[in-house]
Amino acid sequence: MAKIYNSITELVGHTPLVEFKRLEEALGLKGRIIGKLEYFNPAGSHKDRIALEIIEAAEQRGEISPDKTTLVEFTSGNTGIALAAFAAAKGYKFRIGLQPGVSVERLKLLEAYNAEIIPVAPEDLAVVFEKGIAAFDQVIQKFLAQTPNGFATLQLSNPDNIAAHYKHTGPEIWEDTDGAVDIFVGGVGTGGSTHGVSKFLKEKKPSVETIITQPHPDSIANSAVEGASDGGFHGIHPVHDANGFNAMTPDNFSPDYSDRFEDITYAETLKAIHLAGKYEGVFLGASAGASLAVAIKEALKAENEGKVIVALLPDNGERYLSEDLQRVRHDLEDAVTTF
Ligand SMILES: Cc1ncc(COP(=O)(O)O)c(C=O)c1O
Repeated sequence: MAKIYNSITELVGHTPLVEFKRLEEALGLKGRIIGKLEYFNPAGSHKDRIALEIIEAAEQRGEISPDKTTLVEFTSGNTGIALAAFAAAKGYKFRIGLQPGVSVERLKLLEAYNAEIIPVAPEDLAVVFEKGIAAFDQVIQKFLAQTPNGFATLQLSNPDNIAAHYKHTGPEIWEDTDGAVDIFVGGVGTGGSTHGVSKFLKEKKPSVETIITQPHPDSIANSAVEGASDGGFHGIHPVHDANGFNAMTPDNFSPDYSDRFEDITYAETLKAIHLAGKYEGVFLGASAGASLAVAIKEALKAENEGKVIVALLPDNGERYLSEDLQRVRHDLEDAVTTF
């Protein structure tokens, strides 16, 4: 029977779970590491899920339509790429505000999907640097004012972001592990993925433990990747320390569904990326590498013998080729003694 899809929008989700068996063996891990490979989404990341959900939920509410609406967002990451791809596939115009320093791969992808790039005024950038993500929605309001029939997708606060993961990513993990998942690991950018997945899993099985991967503050302070305000972790940032939650905690994040916060250095992240490439033929992006590093540390613990540890791996390393995430770091392999 013929199997022809009508649009790439039909290809979002149902990403595979893969057990990293050779890595488990090489490192002598006690727990089982299962990666959810979100780069199998058509525009290459877990953000495809939220871009589609946000657009289609607004369509269903009658708020937007391709003949009238221009979609607007302010992001330098995967959400912009996903929105650009699905805006194109559905016939919407899309305007995106970008912070300077965005990688050449992302710029080229946005161009390929015909997105209109909005230069961000220096005074707006100053506010963003001062206030962090708290200022994002404020800047978006300025873009909206310049966009007739604009609709802001507002990934930091839009509940449809959480809904995408609660309705799909969480149930996929549950079904594909036959309910055997014990530990879920993910990082926080908007908070949508860890919130939605963890809420679903904990409703099914309250004992599921959710660990939030956080970039180590020292790695960010030393800016592991030149010019990257996030230290090169791409899309994730620390939300919690000994003093509690910080100003970088987005609206879509929920402390109710987070059990623990684990800091990971950039060196540990690169080492995890290297090991996944070397033993599994899987080339991870930086935030995925950070979550894999946390998963490895958990899997080394005797108390986690036989446990099923699922790490959400948001995207792959091809999106960051200009940053050389793939470089073989024998020096790091030796220097990182945590796993
Ligand atoms: C590569 C990458 N990893 C992780 C995240 C964090 O995901 P979330 O926004 O669901 O918290 C993002 C997005 O911000 C991302 O682009």
